[in-house]
Order: sequence, then C-alpha cells, then structure tokens
Amino acid sequence: MRLGPLRVAAGVVELRKPRLTDASAWSRIRLADRHHLESWEPTSPGTWEERNGPLSWPSQWSTLRALARRGMSLPFVILVDGRLAGQITVGNVVRGSLCSAWVGYWVTSRLTAGGVATAAVAMVVDHCFAAAGLHRLEATVRPENAPSLRVLEKLGFRREGVFERYLDVAGGWRDHFCFALTTEDAPDGLVSRLLATGRAHFD
Ligand code: ACO
Repeated sequence: MRLGPLRVAAGVVELRKPRLTDASAWSRIRLADRHHLESWEPTSPGTWEERNGPLSWPSQWSTLRALARRGMSLPFVILVDGRLAGQITVGNVVRGSLCSAWVGYWVTSRLTAGGVATAAVAMVVDHCFAAAGLHRLEATVRPENAPSLRVLEKLGFRREGVFERYLDVAGGWRDHFCFALTTEDAPDGLVSRLLATGRAHFD
C-alpha cells in the first residue's frame, strides 16, 4: 500500500509499508540523528548503536509486520523524493466500540521544518478514518517538543489533557500532552485542509 504523493516545501512525500531492504537507509539516518531523536523516544534496553544499527532492523521490521498482519498496527516509512526520510506508525489499534489508535512519527533532521511530518500525519489520518475504519486517533507529545506540538496544531488536533509521568522516555517517566482527533473533526479530511491552505500540493 502507498499513500501520497503530496508535495511540500521539503519535497514529494509518500508513505509505504516498511521493507526488509530498508535496513541500511533506516540505520544510516538513525545513527546520525541520535541527538535529534533520542529525547523523544521510549527508553529501550541496549545502546543507541545496538538498537539502530542495520542488524537491528530485521527484528523491528518483523515485529511491525506481525502486528500489522494481526490488524494491531499500520506501519509506514516516509519517503521524500523517493528516499527514506522517517517513519510514521499507527499503533494499538482497538476495534469494537473504541475504533481508536495512536500515531507516532519521526523525520530525519536533514529535512525538518519542511512540512514532511505534517503531510505524513495528514495522509495517515485520512487513511485511518476512511479505508481503515477508525473513529479516533491519539497523539501523545512531551510539552518540550515544540516541533511536534506545532505539527498537531497545524492539523487541528485537539489537546485533551496531560498524562502525568506517562511514558518512560530518554531514561525517565515523562509527562505528555494528549491530543486527539475524531472523524467528526475532519469531515473533509486533513489533506484537503493542507491543500486549501497552500501547505501541500498534489504532485
Ligand atoms: N519551536 C517551535 N516550532 C518549531 C521549532 C521550534 N523549536 N522547530 C520547528 N518548528 C516548527 C516548524 O517551523 C514547523 O512549523 P511551520 O510549518 O509553521 O513553520 C513545525 O514546527 C514542524 O512541522 P513539519 O515541518 O511538518 O515537521 P517536520 O517534518 O520538521 O517533523 C518532527 C517534525 C517529526 C517532530 C521532527 O522534528 C522529528 O522527527 N523530531 C524528533 C522525533 C520526534 O519528536 N517525533 C515526534 C514524537 S511525538 C509523536 O510521535 C506523537
């Protein structure tokens, strides 16, 4: 499955499912971008090099694929001008009377502030609310993460409150703002909002 393309300031953004062959491109960015990424990601065992070297990708890819096959996750890599530039994942998909999930993302430091994450979240939200049949998406963000707060603000996510000591990130239990969007908040979709405001264009 592929979502996009959508042109933003940084280039042409597309989303596709992760591949085993993404290992070297994924690892190259992750190893170089440790300082850009580490403060915002869940604490995990092992060193940054162990967790982000090319040999760690196959197990991460296979976990993502297994969760996707069970309908619990929708994992994507973000491509900009055809090159891997980040990831966006919809996780903890719950059906029944919740029809809800969370969304999380990162983008290489080489392309920040170019509209890539905003476009990726917009495409994923539209996909989740249409084809995937979800009703609600949540995003949790540390109050210090100004760029990520701005992404959600641009897309009209609603801030619903603070989850205190919510997640073990960068070695400590960190407060997170909880943002959410339901289908009622975006009847015409988020991509159409970006197009209408000139933040994105069809390629
Ligand atoms: N203070 C305020 N705003 C800022 C700052 C800052 N220090 N730095 C950038 N911005 C603004 C940008 O100017 C832009 O706003 P604008 O379009 O009004 O100019 C906005 O923040 C960023 O929007 P995008 O360009 O769409 O986002 P980008 O592609 O740069 O990616 C992201 C943002 C994903 C947060 C990236 O910086 C990143 O990967 N950071 C590290 C990992 C991370 O924090 N991931 C998110 C965790 S929270 C979650 O997943 C729900």
